[in-house]
Parts: sequence; C-alpha cells; structure tokens
Amino acid sequence: YKYQCTSSILVSVLFQYSLGLNWPTFYVWVQQVDGVWPLPQQLDQSADRNSLSPQRFSFTYGRDSAAQTGCSVLDAAFKRYFSIIFPDFTKGSAMLTTLYSCFVVADNLSVSEGQAVLRSVTVWGALRGLESFSQLVYQDDYGSYFINKTEIVDFPRFAFRGLLLDTSRHYLPLHAILKTLDAMAYSKFNVFHWHIVDDPSFPYQSRTFPDLSNKGAFHPFTHVYTQSDVMRVIEHARMRGIRVIPEFDSPGHTQSWGKGQPNLLTPCYKGDVPSGSFGPVDPTVDTTYKFMESLLKEVKFVFPDSYVHLGGDEVSFACWQSNPNVRTFMEKMGFGKDFTKLESFYMERTSIVWQDVFDYHERIPQDTVLEIWKGETYQAELSRMTKAGHRVLLSAPWYINHISYGQDWRNSYAVQPQNFSGTEEQKKLVIGGEVAMWGEYVDATNLNPRLWPRACAAAERLWSDEEKTLNADLAFPRLEKFRCELLRRGIQAEPLFVGHCKHEYDGL
Ligand SMILES: *[C@@H]1O[C@H](CO)[C@@H](O)[C@H](O)[C@H]1NC(C)=O
Ligand SMILES: *[C@@H]1O[C@H](CO)[C@@H](O)[C@H](O)[C@H]1NC(C)=O
Ligand SMILES: *[C@@H]1O[C@H](CO)[C@@H](O)[C@H](O)[C@H]1NC(C)=O
Repeated sequence: YKYQCTSSILVSVLFQYSLGLNWPTFYVWVQQVDGVWPLPQQLDQSADRNSLSPQRFSFTYGRDSAAQTGCSVLDAAFKRYFSIIFPDFTKGSAMLTTLYSCFVVADNLSVSEGQAVLRSVTVWGALRGLESFSQLVYQDDYGSYFINKTEIVDFPRFAFRGLLLDTSRHYLPLHAILKTLDAMAYSKFNVFHWHIVDDPSFPYQSRTFPDLSNKGAFHPFTHVYTQSDVMRVIEHARMRGIRVIPEFDSPGHTQSWGKGQPNLLTPCYKGDVPSGSFGPVDPTVDTTYKFMESLLKEVKFVFPDSYVHLGGDEVSFACWQSNPNVRTFMEKMGFGKDFTKLESFYMERTSIVWQDVFDYHERIPQDTVLEIWKGETYQAELSRMTKAGHRVLLSAPWYINHISYGQDWRNSYAVQPQNFSGTEEQKKLVIGGEVAMWGEYVDATNLNPRLWPRACAAAERLWSDEEKTLNADLAFPRLEKFRCELLRRGIQAEPLFVGHCKHEYDGL
C-alpha cells in the first residue's frame, strides 16, 4: 500500500515558526500546559518562554528535507495544526485560507527571531511531532500565545496502537467516525479497526453483493457505508497517519449476512425439520467459499491495508450439530463429533481463499497476528501465544465500552502488556494493543464521552516509556489538561473528576 510521500528513502522534515518578541515582564496569569499526552520518550521543558504570533507564524519545509511542498499529507497537516494551535485566530478570520497561504509564502523574514525544528525520518513521525508541538503552545487570559523552549526526542514503544469501533450493533454516522479519527491522532493511535459488520446489521455497501446491505443493514439507504463513505474514512485516516483494518468476521457473527445472501448460513433443524432459524455460515458447501472469495477480493481492493481481520470467534456449534447435512459432512471428513475441527476446516479454507486474494495483488509476509480478546487470563495467553512464536496484540483489558463509577481509566493505565512470564524474545512479539468500543450500548450520542479521555490511558501505555509512566497519580494532572485540550478541539471528552476547563463544552 503506497502512501503518497513515502518511499524507501528517508524523509527528513523541518519546520520553522517565527516568534514575536517576549512580553515585557508584567504579570499575566497563564494556564500552564506542562507536558504532552502521551508522554514523549524524552521531554525537557524550560522556563525560557517565547510568545507566538499567529500573524507571523508559518510552517515550512527545511531546505534539506526530502519532503517539500506538494507532500499532501504534511501540507494538510500544517493547515490543520495551524487552526489547532491558534483557534481564536482561526475563528476570527473569515479569510483564513488566503491569509494562511500568504504567511507561508511571505513570512520567512522574521524567522530569525525564533524557530523550531522538527526532524523525522518518515512523514508519519512528522505528524506525531506536529501533534506534540501543538500541545506545547498555551494561551494567557488576554489571548496571547506562548511556547517555552523545549527539547523532545520521541518514538512509540509499540508499533500497533489500535482502536476498534463497532458499526453493526449501532450505526455510527460517517461524521462520528471521522471525528474519532481526529481524536485518535491527538492521542497518537495509528490503527482504526473497523468492526464494520456483525449479526445485527451489515452496513457495508458491497459492489459485488449489494443485497448484503440492501437487506442486512438497519436501513438500506440511511444506515449504510457507501463506497465513497469508505473512501472518505480511509483517506481521512491516512492523512492522520492511521491505518484502517476492516473486520469481516465469519463463520459466526453473520446473521445479517444471511438476509441478503441466500444459502450462505446453515439452516438449523428441530428434529427432522428445518426450524426456520439459521446458524453460522455453512462450511460444507462450495458456494460458501466461492462467495467468500468474491467478497474478500472486493474487500481487499477497497481497503488497501495489508491486514484484514477475519474474526473466527464465538462460533456456536448447536445449529451445525442439528443439521443432518453437516453431520454427514463431518462423518465424511472424519471429524467425529468435534465441531472445532469443522470450524478449523472453514477458517483454513477461508484463509487460503484469503491468501489467493493477496497473491492476486502483491506478496506480503503471511504470519498471522493473534489478537487476545479473552478476559482475566490475558497474561497466561500472552505467555502461551508468544511461546509458540506468534506475534500478538493485546485487547482483553481494554474493553472500554465497559464503564464503572469513578476513574476507571486507571485500570487501563495499569495494564502492562509485557508483564508476563516469558523470555525477552517472547516480549518482543507483543506488537501492540487495541482499545475496543463494542456497540451494544453505544451510538453517536455517547461515543465520544465514553471513548475520551478513557482511551487516552491505553494510548499512553502503548506509546510511552514504561518506567516513566508507572504512576497514575503523576499522570493525572497531565491527563486532565489533555482532556481540556480535547474539549477545546471539539471532542466531547467526559470529565475525569471535579474541576473545570478554560474552554468548557457549551452543550450546543
Ligand atoms: C514556561 O515558562 C514560564 C515562564 O518562564 C514558566 O513560568 C513555566 O513554568 C514554564 N513552563 C514549563 C512547563 O516549564
Ligand atoms: C526567504 O526565503 C527565500 C526563498 O525561499 C530565500 O531565498 C531567502 O534567503 C529567505 N530569507 C531569509 C531571511 O531566510
Ligand atoms: C507485573 O506483574 C506482577 C504480577 O502480577 C506484579 O506484581 C507487578 O507489580 C507487575 N509490574 C508492573 C510494572 O505492573
């Protein structure tokens, strides 16, 4: 998957901003922002304060930078972060776009008064650096902007920092998804796991099988993601350095698929007659695999990421067991009464189908990554799976759709993904983790407050140095400030505890 502006060569990016003169030394009360969320690997802040003037501020590419104007990801990020850093200025100015491009072109004369430099080997690293930079700027009560002299060296602890949204149990409007991607970028998440279809509804509008959403969505026009909606999500995410991994879970979790695709699901029997209800995908017939092949071929084409999540969880065997054709098939295959063998047979054949889909496009290392979902015993699972040499993702302790009274972010913060019994080699196989927001009780009315700032705890765990982030009490004031920053950026992040923000959510 070739993102624009990346290539095998290193990209180095510099930006510069111009600073006005320091304010004279009369006292102004300044709402201090100390620190950055998630905490950088190295952060040295000083009391050397500079004022920033929006009129004289610009981002530019360094002369020796491999990225230059025309790198769409960074050009767009410069515009976004300009508005984030100077919200008042942005709001007050109807002429923003014109003015802004003026600054870029015209304003390198005052650069000598002050400059900041960001160096990164990739465009994606530059995006993360811009985010940290934006969190360092603060405003006093008179609306003036300041930034202290600061040195940051930063990189993520884990490569995979995911967030799952479930759009099957409730439909989430496109804008709710886009806004979630914005907030993810603020916390340096880099994978959007889109649990797009499931038992309750099939909102993905397929080109090959339009009946899947025509009949399987909650509504065929208003509660679907069209091809262009999906493109928008992928592009919005890409511009923020976020990959989109769709999940098409089967053979279980497919009730909604059956509505638009006759003969896909296993008819359940009551005694000798079909009961009228359906179970998991029918793994005994060839038409199933032909269908999966066409669907996955389309999915691979529409979602360019090199991973697709194929689910394979929570298959109920009762219906398979009731069906005489399935039982005959089991005998023929020599599976006895072991339905897990039938499930494996299906998963293997689907994965082979899947591999074919891949080979069709490009060759990619095929090691499967295992995601740990199951509750209390995740340390044991981590031990076992990494011992077998699998790369793993940790999700079990981060089901943040579960809520409880009080500061439950502390539970997420206390999770230590590499704290299990195993060798150093095993620990390296933990490639990251994922926050999951399952949709039984969540739609656009409560998505943002439930996600933010609670997901930020996992974001810091996945990004920052373990030793420097052991203490949740130390993290608390920084998280409170970050939560206020989220509010200021238009994310309805819920409060952590008693207190106030300078820019409160106005309830409109
Ligand atoms: C920033 O500079 C101001 C003014 O010198 C100082 O009071 C404040 O503590 C500094 N902030 C940080 C985070 O060092
Ligand atoms: C301003 O930018 C122009 C064009 O990039 C360059 O030739 C000139 O040296 C710059 N001036 C200063 C003071 O940096
Ligand atoms: C790691 O796990 C052990 C055993 O559960 C626990 O005692 C220890 O405090 C944990 N360490 C960290 C840093 O969380």
